[in-house]
Amino acid sequence: MRFNDRVAVVAGGGGMGLNISNDLISAGARVSLADLKPEPDGLRGEAGSFRYYRGDLTDETFVRALINKTAGEFGGIDYLVNTAGVLWFDRDTSFSNMDLGVWDQVFNINLKSFVLTSRYAIPQMQKRGGGAMVHFASIDALRAERKPQDAYATSKAAVIRLSKSIAIQFAADHIRSNTILPGPVLSPMQDRWRDKPDLQAAVAEAIPLGRLGTTQDQANACLFLLSDEASFITGSELIVDGGLTAQ
Ligand SMILES: NC(=O)c1ccc[n+]([C@@H]2O[C@H](COP(=O)([O-])OP(=O)(O)OC[C@H]3O[C@@H](n4cnc5c(N)ncnc54)[C@H](O)[C@@H]3O)[C@@H](O)[C@H]2O)c1
Repeated sequence: MRFNDRVAVVAGGGGMGLNISNDLISAGARVSLADLKPEPDGLRGEAGSFRYYRGDLTDETFVRALINKTAGEFGGIDYLVNTAGVLWFDRDTSFSNMDLGVWDQVFNINLKSFVLTSRYAIPQMQKRGGGAMVHFASIDALRAERKPQDAYATSKAAVIRLSKSIAIQFAADHIRSNTILPGPVLSPMQDRWRDKPDLQAAVAEAIPLGRLGTTQDQANACLFLLSDEASFITGSELIVDGGLTAQ
């Protein structure tokens, strides 16, 4: 899969966003990566092949500037990848008694950031005659648990549904929109597993393919869905979880 002369905006520069950005740059794309945090050490590419924007993806002014500067500097936008998200284990619990301020914050980050990036990227893709988007939801969108993170899970379910709506509303513009549903992945989001091999082994044991997911597993799926090889796939979900939800 080659992405020469294509331009991507990657929203969220944590474990997956960084891996996806580096893979897109290696495959010939120019990439704008955006996150609240300072630029990650591992972002690599030839001079002029990437830009890093530090800011809040729930802030419409920041998102508008991110999209406009990317289009201005790189000549347009072909791809959007939404990876920004938060999973606040301690504060995001049951809808029945959790702090509703936390509920709103989770929805702002996990869903509204996706609304904003898509809203501003779509006109740029229309100018190019098409484009592709990948949004990261979670297998948590598909099934409930005794110990819930209700804001996280339901915001991720909403991501799936909004992606379908984008796919249908903009199919005539040749803009594709798909969702990836990762299972457990070793990344900064799952810092609780870091340096805890026993805990990692216990999670891996529950996964039919016998291991935790990697950010590379997710990046591979993402680049496929963005690529021309996936040109007939839109409004769809790809579960990348080692078989966890199939069992
Ligand atoms: N890691 C997993 O096990 C897992 C499983 C299922 C789904 N996911 C989803 O995949 C996506 C990527 O996950 P990851 O593992 O790379 O997580 P991560 O925590 O490494 O990265 C998420 C990034 O989002 C950024 N972010 C949060 N709020 C922001 C804001 N308001 N503005 C800008 N940036 C903001 C964070 O700074 C962080 O760098 C997330 O949406 C996550 O919910 C992850």
